[in-house]
Amino acid sequence: KQTDNHILVIFGASGDLTERKLIPAIYNLYCRSFLPEKFAVLGVSRTKFTDEEYRKKVILENKHLKDNGSADKQAAFSEKIHYHAMETSDPNAYGSLKDRLTQLDISGNYIFYLSTPPSLYEVVSRSLSNVGLSNEEDGWKRIIIEKPFGYDLKTALELNKQLLSYFAEPQIYRIDHYLGKETVQNLLITRFANSIFEPLWNRNFIHHVEITAAETVGVEKRGGYYDGSGAMRDMIQNHLLQLAALVAMEPPVQATESAIRNERMKLFQSLRPLSPEDIEKNVIRGQYTSATIHGETVPGYREEEGVSPESRTETYVAMKFFIDNWRWSGVPFYIRTGKRMPTRVTEIVIHFNPTPHHLFVKNTGVMNQDNMLIIRIQPDEGMLLKFAMKIPGEGLRVTDVDMDFHYKDLADTYIPEAYERLLLDCIQGDATLYARGDAVEAAWQFIDPILKAWETNPNIKMYGYPAGTWGPENADDLVEGKHKNITWRY
Ligand code: BG6
Repeated sequence: KQTDNHILVIFGASGDLTERKLIPAIYNLYCRSFLPEKFAVLGVSRTKFTDEEYRKKVILENKHLKDNGSADKQAAFSEKIHYHAMETSDPNAYGSLKDRLTQLDISGNYIFYLSTPPSLYEVVSRSLSNVGLSNEEDGWKRIIIEKPFGYDLKTALELNKQLLSYFAEPQIYRIDHYLGKETVQNLLITRFANSIFEPLWNRNFIHHVEITAAETVGVEKRGGYYDGSGAMRDMIQNHLLQLAALVAMEPPVQATESAIRNERMKLFQSLRPLSPEDIEKNVIRGQYTSATIHGETVPGYREEEGVSPESRTETYVAMKFFIDNWRWSGVPFYIRTGKRMPTRVTEIVIHFNPTPHHLFVKNTGVMNQDNMLIIRIQPDEGMLLKFAMKIPGEGLRVTDVDMDFHYKDLADTYIPEAYERLLLDCIQGDATLYARGDAVEAAWQFIDPILKAWETNPNIKMYGYPAGTWGPENADDLVEGKHKNITWRY
């Protein structure tokens, strides 16, 4: 694909994301020769830095920058980094930003990366447009919007409307870094490049689908942000619904941006709206409480810095929902996410139907060995198929065994970070792995009633769960019958 000369402008350049993810991603692209001959990064934020000081901060002193190039390479990369101090919220400051871009004399192609608080999205996009920086006459202009994209349906609709009055939809890249993960993209290949899975991928053969994203960390230093957000907005509305879309969408007619995004969109549209009763019964929320993990006492969520001591913000959500279309009629989907869980793991488990008639004695005496395909998103990226086998020896006793593939066995294969992949896609003008405006709205449409019910319905409990455990036990009750024992594998 074509990679034009361009300038990447990062708003929020002194922030954590820039140092932790963006600069390392660009540096890796540079070391792997994916960047064009002429490119520059222009960091923008309020703090005063000279170019040299900024380079020192984001390159020399950046512990997230992998030393995968030589010192010469770092020095050469460093030359590409520039800095411009300005008051981002002041529309009058954008004229000088435009002059600075012209002085860099690279090309008229610009990417504006908004790594700022969401409250600045409107003013930044408006001010860019006011000074002609959304105009594509002398080169393309693209704008990347970080999450959270809106606070609820209403604010997401507003934000889309605002952005669309300054930029056109094809210029807008709404980032969801889960879509950039290698194992997430591989869902498309697993489903649509294998003839053995796709015929089984429907209500006739799949009993239920389970998606888990567990983290061991608490809210760390992000209490201030997180307390106004919570797991539903932080993880489910975006990352986990995107995973669900890739697992469940129809085959796209072509592997193109519009075909794939259309199918994701259709999937969001077919999520069965949750009734008030469903929300009470099928959505469980929790908040971690202080506990001792491996001899270390960790604070409860309400004791974290930046979190209100009376906070009602959830750090855990488990929910059950259905997709109302031909393929998935009657198949429950279970998703859960939480902070301060015992293990860090993101995985999707496809539970296939049991065989129609049981001939053999199961090894454990429990009927829990139906086929499962486990797609490990992270860590230990890979895929595992569980199937039945005869226990060697007398009789016909059955157990299950694993067919297991690990990405780490691909010895010399470079696996790019999500941000690396996504930035390159934006540079190349490919928005397949970005969220389209209508799809973000459709995802909010599904989530919004839950948030509203949580605010207004006193019957909906907030369960506490000790840090380092798998969340409120009530979540197990979402799963029916014998599957209780095997869903939520960990
Ligand atoms: C972010 C959330 O979008 O995703 C964080 O704001 C969360 O709260 C993170 O920790 C998880 O991402 P990953 O890539 O570590 O699974």
